[in-house]
Amino acid sequence: MKKAILNEFTTLYRFGIPFETDATVFEKNDLVFEKCEKIDYFSIVEKENSTTLNIKLSNDDKVYGLGETLGSLNKRGKVYRLFATDDPIHTPEKDALYGSHPFVIISNKFGFFIDYPGEIIFDISYTKFDEMIITINSNNFDIYIFDTKKDIEVVREYLKLTGKPYIPPKWAFGYQQCRWSYPDAETIKDVANNFRKRNIPCDAIYMDIDYMENYKVFTIDDSKFPNFPEFVSEMKNMGFNLVPIVDPGVKIEKGYDVYEEGIKNDYFCKDENGEYFVATVWPGYTHFPDFLNPQVREWWGEKYKLFTDLGITGFWNDMNEPSIFFVPKTLKEYLKKIDELKEKEVGLEFFMIKDEAVNLSNRREYYKSFYHNTPQGKYSNDEIHNLYGYYMTKATVEGFEKIIPNKRYLLLSRSSYAGHHRIATIWMGDNMSWWEHMLVNIRMLQSLNLSGFFYTGADIGGFGSNSSPELVIRWMQLGVFSPLYRNHSALGTRHQEPWAFDEYTEEILRNTIKLRYALIPYLYSEFFNSVDNLKPFISPLFLHFDDEISKNIEDQFMVGNSIMAAPVIQPNAKGRYVHLPENKWLYWKASNHKYRNVKVYEPGDYYIEADLNEVPIFIRENSLIILNEEDINYVNEKPIKELTVIGFVNNSAEFTYFEDDGETYDFNSGKFAKIKIVVNKENNRYNFEVEKDESEDFVSTVERIKFEIYDEKGNKHTEIIEI
Ligand code: GLC
Repeated sequence: MKKAILNEFTTLYRFGIPFETDATVFEKNDLVFEKCEKIDYFSIVEKENSTTLNIKLSNDDKVYGLGETLGSLNKRGKVYRLFATDDPIHTPEKDALYGSHPFVIISNKFGFFIDYPGEIIFDISYTKFDEMIITINSNNFDIYIFDTKKDIEVVREYLKLTGKPYIPPKWAFGYQQCRWSYPDAETIKDVANNFRKRNIPCDAIYMDIDYMENYKVFTIDDSKFPNFPEFVSEMKNMGFNLVPIVDPGVKIEKGYDVYEEGIKNDYFCKDENGEYFVATVWPGYTHFPDFLNPQVREWWGEKYKLFTDLGITGFWNDMNEPSIFFVPKTLKEYLKKIDELKEKEVGLEFFMIKDEAVNLSNRREYYKSFYHNTPQGKYSNDEIHNLYGYYMTKATVEGFEKIIPNKRYLLLSRSSYAGHHRIATIWMGDNMSWWEHMLVNIRMLQSLNLSGFFYTGADIGGFGSNSSPELVIRWMQLGVFSPLYRNHSALGTRHQEPWAFDEYTEEILRNTIKLRYALIPYLYSEFFNSVDNLKPFISPLFLHFDDEISKNIEDQFMVGNSIMAAPVIQPNAKGRYVHLPENKWLYWKASNHKYRNVKVYEPGDYYIEADLNEVPIFIRENSLIILNEEDINYVNEKPIKELTVIGFVNNSAEFTYFEDDGETYDFNSGKFAKIKIVVNKENNRYNFEVEKDESEDFVSTVERIKFEIYDEKGNKHTEIIEI
């Protein structure tokens, strides 16, 4: 083992000769290594082809991190297997999901990141309460130790190492509607018309797999989408972005250009005998592009031109663990076994057949049986498994750099590895319309933000199984604070568009979505602020407050610096318990973005009321939030002329509003405007200051600021300032 000191807080420990992933952004050639025997905090046992790291935990230690995983926010008490897996049943005992983010914070002690792209198992207080046992399936990997007791500094060190979070276009902060599937142009137009007719804002409609011709990637089924370019521009004119799905498996079919090009150029993964590996996914038999090969990425990335040439800038890369329904040979063996049972009286064998059918998917042996030709040599997929989704996404992004160089894009991927947050994001995969999955959604929003995925979200309303009106209402209310605000549901389940239930539900959902749109100036400004400061946008309370209770709260979270969200996530509830740390809070029971129903709370623990139509919003003492109260159908419909500032100010508060074109990277060269808003209270009087900072290149559209400031008694003070 050897070590290299990167900075005051961060040391890299290197075991063997690791596969160089793309997780970090620093210049590795400058590293100066020295030999070393041990790592503080860890005891290490190296075996043949595996390494075990052991960390002693005290009773009070809290362990956070691990990005996209199930389990509580404090990760103690469970085993987590970081091996990208397409498992659509997210029940509590499951150990693996779609991504791998091996970054851990041991609160108030230190943090670490294991850069290894194969399987890692974290047993955190599961086998033994006072131990974290980490098993790495290799002797070649890097560990970075972040030696600072401040949790926020641990996060910052990790983000300095792995890069600044990606920034989507502004429209991606609007509401997004998805369904597997809206199968043709007529259905999508109907959905779009419903949004506009019913006066419910929406910015994006997704196109799931049925838009393709027989699920062939980079094709469009003409019979369902006659004149696709015209359809795309019709949608654009109505203010809708289309977001097509892209799957990695390329259908084996003579004459299909993507397949033919892949074969001609030798772009697909092969098995141990040098034959192309065959996996079955939606299109039937497919080959997997070898995204770890830079030439393959170049080829694949340019394919998105099919869509970007028409102005489409939103995509979701799915099934890229990669998901494998089955391998033809294995299915045949299985069917043969059933055949043999045909003439027998079947008893216990029934369970064997049943379980084996499920276990045909995503078998470990499949991943061991195909290979990647990387610039670092040939590796089995199993060895670098967790990188496949990242490199598919990197192919997309490298393509965008050429075909839409200065355009921001919305790019979701299902699978990901550490560092993925720099180039794109993920959604949380196939959850269910279960109340329990709202809590899973909230926990993961926080854990993923700790790992740099500031812009992310779950399928709102739940993907699998049937939703109910109340569940969708409460989930859509939680979604007001989810950076990615996308409602998605699976084939065969109950529809959950805002109008899918009854008029009462529709009215509440309309107001809920409008509340989200009103909050976009706050969310967007705070998002930029979070990226600049490398401080999670959605953050657990422990990053903001030092009290012991805050460290254990997982169902409340900060959104930027001024808002604490405390969503209602139980059925038939008329409110919930909340912990209000450190300072006073202004509780806004928001049933409508234009109507304030507020009450001041002292710090403490309370049961607060929140009826089915009310979204709980807590505004921190001495802070401001910014609203756009004008009704809009979509984010970029009208320039924002007037901002409403709501504040809870007992001394002083300030907020910086950020504005740019929302769709390019020009903000990097100074094309943005900022408005600094300050509210001071002296001798029971409020002073208001507004300072506009804009350049010739970018002028703010805001002309007027309306202040609505509450004092500690809950009295309102108003002012209007023309700017
Ligand atoms: C996968 C995705 C889901 C999508 C479905 C069909 O299950 O996770 O979001 O709708 O495939 O493409």
